[in-house]
Amino acid sequence: MAELLKIEHLNVKVGNKEILKDLSLSIPEGQIHAIMGPNGCGKSTLSKVIVGDPAYVVTSGSITFKGKDLLKMSADERANEGVFLAFQHPVELPGVGMALLLKTAINAKRKYLGQEAMDAVQFMKHMKIRATALGITDEMLKRPVNVGFSGGEQKRLETFQMAMLEPDFCILDEMDSGLDVDALKVVGKAVSVMREAKRSFIIITHHDDLLKYVKPDAVSIMRRGTVVKTGGPELVKLIEEQGYDAIG
Ligand SMILES: Nc1ncnc2c1ncn2[C@@H]1O[C@H](COP(=O)(O)OP(=O)(O)OP(=O)(O)O)[C@@H](O)[C@H]1O
Ligand SMILES: [Mg+2]
Repeated sequence: MAELLKIEHLNVKVGNKEILKDLSLSIPEGQIHAIMGPNGCGKSTLSKVIVGDPAYVVTSGSITFKGKDLLKMSADERANEGVFLAFQHPVELPGVGMALLLKTAINAKRKYLGQEAMDAVQFMKHMKIRATALGITDEMLKRPVNVGFSGGEQKRLETFQMAMLEPDFCILDEMDSGLDVDALKVVGKAVSVMREAKRSFIIITHHDDLLKYVKPDAVSIMRRGTVVKTGGPELVKLIEEQGYDAIG
């Protein structure tokens, strides 16, 4: 299988604090890759570095995406290339409606790829199908993005954005935290429906809740800023039963 994302010997700092240390990780096309690890080991930091959050400084190492140097790209370029992050703590955007945000993002990506813009009718159709599947109401779409939404509603809206943008590489950072069992099934189904030969996912999680609905092909365990082990789904069971001290 061709490589979609390749991280080699990555070191990352915030201020003077070294957070990621000599981290290497490889994700082939079409793979669902779960990442587990104790609080504070650097999982969210890794996801933010991949999408280009300027707060995190890469001091050495490389990230290639579809064979291109990801670290040379702006955050917008990375999104247009097909990188998407569903945040652990979604950002509130007062005054910005979801439909406008998504139409702008979709058409920016289409322009980047040399494709024609989606018109209003096409966009509404695209949105209606996905909103219905994810239980997103018209009222939710009219409200400013993430403002005043419950934790579970925000996660569902993040999943909706992913379904709308159809990215090639999706990172779900603790998508399962705070979701009720019905919402968990909805998110699990959304990922399963989006699963394609070339689309890959990183699912960052602490439990096997979401992984019951979306079976990972590979599992990596992070500790103290680096990946200490990569294996198959059996690692999830081992962690659930014995905790992180079973590894590294
Ligand atoms: N902007 C920042 N400023 C200072 N420290 C930071 C910053 N971002 C992350 N850190 C620190 O880096 C470490 C890793 O944080 P990160 O959020 O990546 O952990 P995590 O593995 O996602 O944890 P959790 O499972 O609790 O979500 C923590 O000690 C955190 O305090
Ligand atoms: Mg985190």
